[in-house]
Amino acid sequence: MIGAADTTISPAAIHLNSNESVYGPSPHAAAAARAAVAGIERYLEDPDAALAPAIARRFGLQADLITIGQGSDDLLARLARAYLGPGTELMRSVNGYLKVPNYAYANDAALISVPDDNFKPSVDRMIAAISERTRIIYIASPENPAGTYLSGVELRRLHAAMPNDALLVIDSAYEEYVDAPDYEPAHKLVEESGNVVMCRTFSKIFGLAGARVGWAYGPDDVIDTLRRIALTFPVASPSAAAAIAALEDHAHTSFVRSANLGSRTWLTSELEGLGLQVVPSQANFVLVKFPNPEKTAEAADAALRARGISVRRFASPAFHDFIRITIGRPEELRACVAVISSFLIGDG
Ligand SMILES: Cc1ncc(COP(=O)(O)O)c(C=O)c1O
Repeated sequence: MIGAADTTISPAAIHLNSNESVYGPSPHAAAAARAAVAGIERYLEDPDAALAPAIARRFGLQADLITIGQGSDDLLARLARAYLGPGTELMRSVNGYLKVPNYAYANDAALISVPDDNFKPSVDRMIAAISERTRIIYIASPENPAGTYLSGVELRRLHAAMPNDALLVIDSAYEEYVDAPDYEPAHKLVEESGNVVMCRTFSKIFGLAGARVGWAYGPDDVIDTLRRIALTFPVASPSAAAAIAALEDHAHTSFVRSANLGSRTWLTSELEGLGLQVVPSQANFVLVKFPNPEKTAEAADAALRARGISVRRFASPAFHDFIRITIGRPEELRACVAVISSFLIGDG
């Protein structure tokens, strides 16, 4: 019978599984999106003209080197479509962002997955793996699902070893959450080189994941190529209006950033206090290892789910003993820690 309710599964009440912002967007962004619905019968003709100047102002960038996409995944997919093909290679760190292998497969390119060091990309091994077929080296900094990052020095060392005809794609989706002093925003390397592209998003700290707006910053020839292969009218007008308003609300992003930093530190120390191992994170999530074979990550996930808390597990064997928890609101994290704690001491 279609539509029979499954009473054994209740919908999750607390979503800590997709690294969305639990604080939502700026209220000005939501209001701007609602107001833009009044003109929804029209296409947004030129999302770059609408959004790039506001992005450039907020981050101190050159507007003409920015192009907008339907989320940063759209731009990553376009980069792959433009620069990969049979006989070429896409290099990435083996436990990095899980969408990236698809970009190689979809374009008949070879995927080179380079072993990491405790989930941190290994610059030495990546340099050693460069070949004349390397067309894209993809680095997310911070990485997802681990939250690790590369320092400015390490990224520059990788870039310096690359041939000019290979593109370094730096996915900075979580840049706004970083507090490591040796992190260097990727736009500097973009501006100094002819073969570095940075991808950014409104899905994370700006709280607009459902609006689907991302952007790329890169050399003019690369940005020109990305524009040429874009979908016609790729960005919805209410989404663009929301993004522009979100950029202007500095107070909202400052609040989210500091709330995330405080909660990330709190959650890390609580979980470590329970005997779990937390991969040091620079993002809005933590990857947590359950080292006791009698108290597995899989069982912890089930215990959380049974109490309406959804976190993320991954199919890859490297993540077998791990769950990833998005940094939620303090009360959500307290609930999450309470469930894990009683699961570990046996009455969960
Ligand atoms: C590393 C990384 N890159 C890109 C994305 C995609 O973001 P968007 O919503 O902008 O497509 C995500 C989303 O989780 C991500 O974790």
